Amino acid sequence: MGHELIIVLNSDGHRGIAVARAVRELQVFCEVLNSDADVDKIKKKNPKGIIVTGEPGATSENLSALNIPLLYAHDEQKDKISEFLFKTCGLKGDWIMEDVAPKLVESLREKIGEKKVLCALSGGVDSTVAAIMLHKACGKNLHCIFVDHGLMRLHEGDEVERIFTKDFDINFTRVNAQDRFLDKLKGVADPEQKRKIIGEEFIRVFEEEGNKIGAVDFLVQGTIYPDVIESGKEGAALVKSHHNVGGIPDVIDFGEIIEPLRDLFKDEVRKVGLALGIDEELIFRQPFPGPGLAVRVIGEITKEKLDILRHTDHIYREEIKKAGLDRKIWQYFTVFTGLRSVGVKNDARSYGYTIALRAVNSLYTVTADWVRIPYETLEVISERITSEVVEVNRVVFDITGKPPGTIEWE
Ligand code: XMP
Repeated sequence: MGHELIIVLNSDGHRGIAVARAVRELQVFCEVLNSDADVDKIKKKNPKGIIVTGEPGATSENLSALNIPLLYAHDEQKDKISEFLFKTCGLKGDWIMEDVAPKLVESLREKIGEKKVLCALSGGVDSTVAAIMLHKACGKNLHCIFVDHGLMRLHEGDEVERIFTKDFDINFTRVNAQDRFLDKLKGVADPEQKRKIIGEEFIRVFEEEGNKIGAVDFLVQGTIYPDVIESGKEGAALVKSHHNVGGIPDVIDFGEIIEPLRDLFKDEVRKVGLALGIDEELIFRQPFPGPGLAVRVIGEITKEKLDILRHTDHIYREEIKKAGLDRKIWQYFTVFTGLRSVGVKNDARSYGYTIALRAVNSLYTVTADWVRIPYETLEVISERITSEVVEVNRVVFDITGKPPGTIEWE
């Protein structure tokens, strides 16, 4: 789109990403390439500067020969980067999301024209922003399918429906497939097996609904820039392979894949979403896994367990919001541990379920630290859950980082 460009050369996944984010925050567009990227390829992109992170390696002499300003940055030191961008390279800083959003929409409009586009909605930030961008670009030629697998949080399915039918007038199909998913998941306790079943069932439902819409030219994917870097598609170091279970499978032929967010980091997706008029509540939602609450119920999934989990999770979220922590914590949710223990409720012996509270902060989800929620807030949450959710008599707080734990329990 004709923006000033900086190339970030990356030899170790996280450092390059951190530097790239710092550059973007300074309103300069940058691309991350692997440190052994071909020098001619770099030259062709016509960057205004190159930032080398980690070990410069064998390419450093070739890089100097390019006669493009070079910075060796070992971390995301903003002062140093800022001086390089604006003094050494003489940039203006033209990567401003409020201006970028309409340009992205315009370029989608040019690409798509009058063709038909199909989009799967998860209710998450990425697929929502992608869908609204497409809606602005091609109006009624966009068809959105929302597969409600019954593994969403309280009222979440209805909220998704409201946004797409009331806030925006979009061709929207909600498939109420709750029973279908529960049926398939009956008796299955193994985490990987559960994920697999959900992924496969999602493909089937999506395929059935997509076929009703008929031939489409484009299929939308909510891929964002860290996915591009992490899965090594741009020749960058492989951090982890993307595990988007419940995302769009590549076995379905629904036209050409279109990825409107593939140049954006998560915070940029949020800014674009706000610029497009999407509700703040939705934009600042925490990340939610594709297989939904299925990875938060240990062992076999039943409607009863899901309902208990939804109720406890709702209370947890309400109290975190009241404490003013909702935008300060990356992810916070309850886990149905499946454990039952003895307690006393209303002066009588009880034998109830144990709910775990998880709260983590994480930059790239590869590592995470547990959040030190104030005791007073934890106390209110525990009291509310044990008094309002009759089946629960014990609440525990997960104080495990990642590694060795993962963010989700399954
Ligand atoms: P873990 O549990 O692996 O989670 O530490 C890292 C991040 O990924 C999310 N997550 C998923 N997202 N499909 C997704 O789209 C999945 O199957 C999936 N599993 C975990 C998780 O919520 C966390 O943000």
